[in-house]
Amino acid sequence: MAPRFLHFIILLLFFICSSATLGNNHEDPTTKTMEDFSGYPIHESHSCISNTLSALSVDAQTLQNQIDELSSLSDTPAPSVTRILYTEKDVLARRFIKNLMRLSGLSVREDAVGNIFGRWEGHEPELAAVATGSHIDAIPFSGKYDGVVGVLGAIEAINVLKRSGFKPKRAIEVILFTSEEPTRFGIGCLGSRLLAGGEALAKALKTTVDGQNISFFYAARSAGYAKDQDDLSNVFLKKGTYSAFVELHIEQGPILEEEGISIGIVTAIAAPASIKVEFEGNGGHAGAVLMPNRNDAGLAAAELALAVERHVLESGSIDSVGTVGILELHPGAINSIPSKSHLEIDTRDIDEGRRNIIIEKIRQSASTIAKNRGVRLSEFKIINQDPPALSEKSIIEAMKASSADLNLTHKLMISRAYHDSLFMARVSPMGMIFIPCYKGYSHKPEEFSSIDDISNGVKVLALTLAKLSIQ
Ligand SMILES: *[C@@H]1O[C@H](CO)[C@@H](O)[C@H](O)[C@H]1NC(C)=O
Ligand SMILES: *[C@@H]1O[C@H](CO)[C@@H](O)[C@H](O)[C@H]1NC(C)=O
Ligand SMILES: [Zn+2]
Repeated sequence: MAPRFLHFIILLLFFICSSATLGNNHEDPTTKTMEDFSGYPIHESHSCISNTLSALSVDAQTLQNQIDELSSLSDTPAPSVTRILYTEKDVLARRFIKNLMRLSGLSVREDAVGNIFGRWEGHEPELAAVATGSHIDAIPFSGKYDGVVGVLGAIEAINVLKRSGFKPKRAIEVILFTSEEPTRFGIGCLGSRLLAGGEALAKALKTTVDGQNISFFYAARSAGYAKDQDDLSNVFLKKGTYSAFVELHIEQGPILEEEGISIGIVTAIAAPASIKVEFEGNGGHAGAVLMPNRNDAGLAAAELALAVERHVLESGSIDSVGTVGILELHPGAINSIPSKSHLEIDTRDIDEGRRNIIIEKIRQSASTIAKNRGVRLSEFKIINQDPPALSEKSIIEAMKASSADLNLTHKLMISRAYHDSLFMARVSPMGMIFIPCYKGYSHKPEEFSSIDDISNGVKVLALTLAKLSIQ
């Protein structure tokens, strides 16, 4: 059908829906529209609800074009995407998003670190707003859907609602979060951590530099942010700013695709902790020092790596995971006993207490191993130890109802990767919508989600935002 004709039909449906109910009560058509979207009509016939639902149309071609255009703002050639915080390409990508927000009629605001907010005012602007959003930074040689689907998709969700004639009661905001990826300054979810009141982070950023010794604030200023001062306390959100936050994201895992399910409804986000460990021994010549006389820092590291696996398995839960992703030996020569070893350990769980027990066991093992092997445990540093987050029941219900209203299959699931939602959960009730992606690939150029799957996600997001905005 031609878009103009479709548009006409939609308007007609709204006219019929609105006028059919106007006679029955004293509410205006806007209120009726909101009732349609709530899924729980008060004075309403059911046919109008389904008419409204079928009026939710995603402009899939335009959305795909936007995803492609954004992916061209990259420091590496297609199909890979590389977009690092506060670089020229990041600034251009931000401009692209702000433009789209304005074209959708949103009022745009930026904070001192470049979190971007596009607001669609509700007719009760004093109420806490409903928010949605994600990130557009991309690690080196990654793909074009991670994060992007939750930003461009959120703007399209607003367009979908506007085209359908919906008027929000609570304002709806689209947020672009600064630096979800830790690429440049080693800090993941920098923007959302600060929004959630990261005072320690705000302080640490004063002395943070990147791999080229460029300071965080110098980089931020060169991108047009943090102009006036180094004080980031005005970035912190007041609790109660948002009544709900919902993020749309590719699954980054294979489950939805394998099971042929359209929508994943996230019930919890596993939270990571990471630990740095260093052992030091005397080293020595690989031939000359006899076995009884050694204190090998490399073997201590090897033993600890196996202990990490053992402690994780001891938890008895499939949700506990642990990884030694970095293990470096010094001096790193075949004929030299390692005098120093360096490990970095990542461990995650959806149960914080269980995850913390694992960390404690790793700490005890590290010191026991050091004692038994006569090496020094020169560092045991917990880099971050974030609590997991649970999705809010009422938001899970809104996402489930929206999927059902749209006849889309859905599944409750856990997010094992972390997202800005993990930190937004500290200041707002939170929920997440996953869509399938090819083989679960992410953080590489082969990352892919079909435009049909993306459109389904956008529709569920639109309907969920609509329901939440009238609550
Ligand atoms: C980094 O920059 C600071 C300030 O400009 C300077 O004092 C310091 O020596 C530099 N560090 C390195 C490793 O280059
Ligand atoms: C969902 O399926 C029902 C029953 O087949 C149908 O009446 C309804 O129009 C469908 N809704 C949407 C939004 O496609
Ligand atoms: Zn992401």
